[in-house]
Amino acid sequence: MAQGLILGIESSCDETAAAVVERGSRTLSSVVASQITTHARYGGVVPELASREHLRAIVPVVRAALAEANCTLADLDAVAVTSGPGLAGALLVGITYAKALAFAQGLPLIAVNHLEGHIHAVLLQQRQQALATGLADTAPGNNPDTEPALALVVSGGHTHLYLARPAGGTWSYSLVGRTVDDAAGEAYDKVAKLLGLGYPGGPWIDTLARFGDPLAVPFSFAQIKPKAHLAGKTPRTKAARTAPIAELDPHFLFSFSGIKTAVLRYVELHSLREEAAARIARVLAHPRPPQTKEEALALCPQQVLDLVASFQHAVVGDLMKKTFAAADSLGATRILVTGGVAANRELRARFGSEAQRRRLTVDFPTLALSTDNAAMIAAAAWPRFVAGQFAGLDLTADPSLALGR
Ligand code: KG4
Ligand code: ZN
Repeated sequence: MAQGLILGIESSCDETAAAVVERGSRTLSSVVASQITTHARYGGVVPELASREHLRAIVPVVRAALAEANCTLADLDAVAVTSGPGLAGALLVGITYAKALAFAQGLPLIAVNHLEGHIHAVLLQQRQQALATGLADTAPGNNPDTEPALALVVSGGHTHLYLARPAGGTWSYSLVGRTVDDAAGEAYDKVAKLLGLGYPGGPWIDTLARFGDPLAVPFSFAQIKPKAHLAGKTPRTKAARTAPIAELDPHFLFSFSGIKTAVLRYVELHSLREEAAARIARVLAHPRPPQTKEEALALCPQQVLDLVASFQHAVVGDLMKKTFAAADSLGATRILVTGGVAANRELRARFGSEAQRRRLTVDFPTLALSTDNAAMIAAAAWPRFVAGQFAGLDLTADPSLALGR
């Protein structure tokens, strides 16, 4: 076998990304062109603008990834691309480009599920560490591809719990839990928008929450009613439509639309709407979350800082409660938390200390690998490359592609 160089391409949402990864375990380059400034003024991703921006960025981003990896198209062994879930028009840009490249170079094409990519962001990092310490493959505990793991994928589009199992060189996934409505990242983005904070909301709330009292507003998450989900209701939002809920244990179902409404009610009850509206222009003019308490107070009253701290405390608490309950129930001792929201500082700290208390391991990707990137796509493609699981040139976008069963 040659070097095992895979070019990964990711364009499922608002990041155009390309990366070259060797044998699923060594990142030679990872280039991400973010469209945040394009979408920020709308407070969310505008699908048509996303497709247009991907079209503009795809060629320079792939070129930059090859240049940074110090290789040419002739050095590659395969092209991997995200085939779903995501925005149809956005996915199509990456897929069409990857197909053309694979066809022109005579390379195999590998289709990767975006959610599997997020899981492999953690595995990539662990394989990288094992290589660096020279422990790769020497003992099962040092090889990230031998132990099953409970994976929480928590991003702007998903809040899904999977049991990931190594199976004959590749991985298999079973869905354990999921959101029935909004994703956790979506709740962060909507709450930030409502409070006149920047887009995406996660990093803003993450930073501002450090200056507020997390117990000031007692938000609570009612347990999802078993009756509602057994009745076979279809999930209410697009984000939730990618997999069935009827057969899942209701204890592992998430719901984040209620807390968004509770924040809205709090804002109205405490007449914070005008104050939030006045903040939008100031935030757009200085698009970086305040880093000190003084800067934060200059932008938001203490009441808003307390509100975001309480919101975050409740969301992280709920993610923890259900993830650890699932780990308990499945006997999982290894937890992976990944996706954009896994960049959150409070989430990392609290998951880390709870895992330690329970004698479980919990691992996160680096911050750069938490949000969308293509290194995770190239890494997830490696086991498929070895197993010869290739896509045909009829590959097309599947906006609601599910992972596992
Ligand atoms: O994984 P990702 O880049 O894209 C999707 O697949 O959705 O995740 C983006 C989401 C956004 O909702 C963003 O607000 C959230 O991740 N996010 C965060 C943080 N950084 C990004 N949420 C909480 N804390 C953060 N530090
Ligand atoms: Zn993602």
